[in-house]
Amino acid sequence: MTRGGKARAGLLVALLGIGAAVPPAYAEHGVSWDLAVKYLLTTIKAFRTTYVLDVIGTLKKSGVEPKEHWKSELHAIPLPAQFVLSAGEEVAIYEIGLIGLNPLYEKNLPKTPAEAEALKRMQANPNERLITFAEGDQYKGLSADLAIVQSCADCHNTHPKAVKRDFKKGDLMGALVVRLNREKH
Ligand code: HEC
Repeated sequence: MTRGGKARAGLLVALLGIGAAVPPAYAEHGVSWDLAVKYLLTTIKAFRTTYVLDVIGTLKKSGVEPKEHWKSELHAIPLPAQFVLSAGEEVAIYEIGLIGLNPLYEKNLPKTPAEAEALKRMQANPNERLITFAEGDQYKGLSADLAIVQSCADCHNTHPKAVKRDFKKGDLMGALVVRLNREKH
């Protein structure tokens, strides 16, 4: 076998080994649902982190801040969560969400007991930062959403709808979630 051939064979073995539930059509092409969910979460998280650190971080110096009612306020830009959720609304073929065990709004609760279970596992074990699983017609992935800056904790702790007011920098605040529809594509 050529070097390229060996590398391809190795990659195929690695890809096939990744997901427990690999639908045949995808497995044939060497891509699993599991891998797809991981790629999407990694990308969404990277854009979200860049928004928080670079965009919000830089604009703060000139007095522009993320505010929930940014559309009607001066010098305001969307919250990190609103940035993710409104980008998610642009995506029609799969779901992008943000969930928490103690969310500010009930709509951000886990959608199923399995999602709640995955969030609890993340909370109990700091090494579990990415959890993927098949559930019904969907393949899901959760990526830990941490308070990467102090203002994440401060805003959540002081929000009028807060049910948990002791978040600290570095805490798990919830998870980014991706839900792919296995039957439709
Ligand atoms: C200025 C206030 C503010 C800041 C700063 C802020 N958030 Fe939020 N966050 C909110 C609000 C309000 C929502 C609900 C938005 C919605 O669903 O429309 C929310 C939603 C969330 C959710 C979904 C669960 C829930 O509580 O509803 C998570 C997880 C989350 N934020 C994490 C973070 C993280 C991590 C940071 C820092 C990178 C952060 N937030 C910064 C106000 C804030």
